Amino acid sequence: MIQSQLPFTLGITSPLLDEAMAVLQQKFNVRDLSGYRDADDLIEKARGCEAIISMLSDSFDEKVLSALGRHEQTPLKLLCNYAVGTNNIDIEAASRFGVMVTNTPGVLTEATADTAFALLMAAARRVREGEILVRSGGFTKTGWQPTMLLGQELCGSTIGIFGMGRIGSAVARRAAAFGMRVIYHNRNPRNDGPYTAVDFEHLLRESDIIVICAPATPQTRHRFTLNEFQAMKSSAILVNVGRGEIIREKDLALALQKGYIFAAGLDVYEHEPLIEPLLMDMDNVVLLPHLGSATRKTRMDMAMLCIDAIESVFSKGTIPTNCLN
Ligand code: DGY
Repeated sequence: MIQSQLPFTLGITSPLLDEAMAVLQQKFNVRDLSGYRDADDLIEKARGCEAIISMLSDSFDEKVLSALGRHEQTPLKLLCNYAVGTNNIDIEAASRFGVMVTNTPGVLTEATADTAFALLMAAARRVREGEILVRSGGFTKTGWQPTMLLGQELCGSTIGIFGMGRIGSAVARRAAAFGMRVIYHNRNPRNDGPYTAVDFEHLLRESDIIVICAPATPQTRHRFTLNEFQAMKSSAILVNVGRGEIIREKDLALALQKGYIFAAGLDVYEHEPLIEPLLMDMDNVVLLPHLGSATRKTRMDMAMLCIDAIESVFSKGTIPTNCLN
């Protein structure tokens, strides 16, 4: 059944999966904002959109929000970020210019925790190096060797989770099922069942694996620098599925080079999509292109949350459940 389209324009900065686009196009007047060159071009393209679905790679800063939120006839009313993290949006400025901001919490928790585990296991068991060895013919030459590509054992090890929100808790559940002891450091210590809250120094010293699941905030920015890597075990693995700027990437490269830690697995980067060149050539780093929530089901669920938010505002006249301001 074709529903009548609500009389406002929805801008979208990047096409979503076909099924999601079909629903959006059936319900709303959709304007494609993809491929904009810079902030001015984004403002130009988005002028007149009362709602926008933005990606984590779009910067909705004060300049963009003020231009769109103060538009005389059709000011921007709603910005739905297609991500749980919202560090790409100046929420304080959005509030000032009357723009509601929503995100997509909950639906991407399990997919992102799976990504953390994929990185963790790949880094601990040297999956990348093993792949290269096989494909380059190295394994065929040498055959099985008792000391070939020895990694770190997960069962019995201690995992330290930095940021014990929904994703951190989902990583903890997986880790417990693998026989790992779970400790964590969170902004506010929480009563989290069998897991032990520790201070940051303890987390660095005790963990065999540290998984960063925290958002980017002024408090978490560059929380991991050379000092922190030096405080970690030389056999430790660092995984980041939170935000890149929590790690000073140059320092991580140095720490891996000097053997301060054993390996790393990264899904997010300090200057995404740029990556510290030194990391690109290292064998003991597994690099993913920000795939945290990248499953078909999760990406569809994220789209449905954006649609719910748009309908709350434009059909029901209510404040969306995931409104952040
Ligand atoms: C998000 O949605 O903020 C995460 O980075 C998922 O990968």
